[in-house]
Amino acid sequence: MRIDILTLFPEMFEGPLTQSIMKRAVDKGLVEMYFHDIRDYTLDKHKKVDDYAFGGGAGMVMTIQPIADLIEKLKGERKYDHVIYMTPDGQRFEQRIANTLSLSENIIILCGHYKGVDQRIRDNYVTMEISIGDYVLTGGELAAAVVSDAIIRLIPGVMSDETSALTDSFQDDLLSPPVYTRPADYNGWKVPDVLLSGNQAMIDQWREQQAYERTRKIRPDLLEE
Ligand code: ADE
Repeated sequence: MRIDILTLFPEMFEGPLTQSIMKRAVDKGLVEMYFHDIRDYTLDKHKKVDDYAFGGGAGMVMTIQPIADLIEKLKGERKYDHVIYMTPDGQRFEQRIANTLSLSENIIILCGHYKGVDQRIRDNYVTMEISIGDYVLTGGELAAAVVSDAIIRLIPGVMSDETSALTDSFQDDLLSPPVYTRPADYNGWKVPDVLLSGNQAMIDQWREQQAYERTRKIRPDLLEE
């Protein structure tokens, strides 16, 4: 899989997508990630990438030309499954969307800043608009990192324990059961006996019941769907 991220702040991705499991996915050749600086594509002599909104109002709008040229260049090089625009007014990101996107070969993720991009970019290039929640960030970069992480960890071979992505919270519309590790007794804080029993059937049953109880308490909406 190849992910091309279009941004005014490529340095923002150093860290979230270049460490730990994401780094290993890249090193193993399971995913290729490219961070493109939109400013490198502007034809404006002052390197401008934004302008005032027609009709007035506060905030700048990202101009069409550098983004369009960059998308055209990438599309000329390979076929993309999706051009995704990160925006608080997109569809809400959830596990189901991550699952679908993880089957893609090539995707472009466009990060907006200021008041966002000129609507004509959205109308003519963008195939999917994603929000990571009902709150407004300063730009789409953190959101793009969240979406990329959620997609990449689903690519076969990325997680060391192949089954673990399948038992995540949300994968079956239930939150995960609580987990414990050694020591079994930390200054009197004890691990539930059942987990030490060695009886796998009982452990599985306990986990299922805990997952259900947690979901009912914290996210009853998941049980209604
Ligand atoms: N850009 C700014 N806020 C955002 C959000 N909540 N989701 C996606 N992109 C955004």
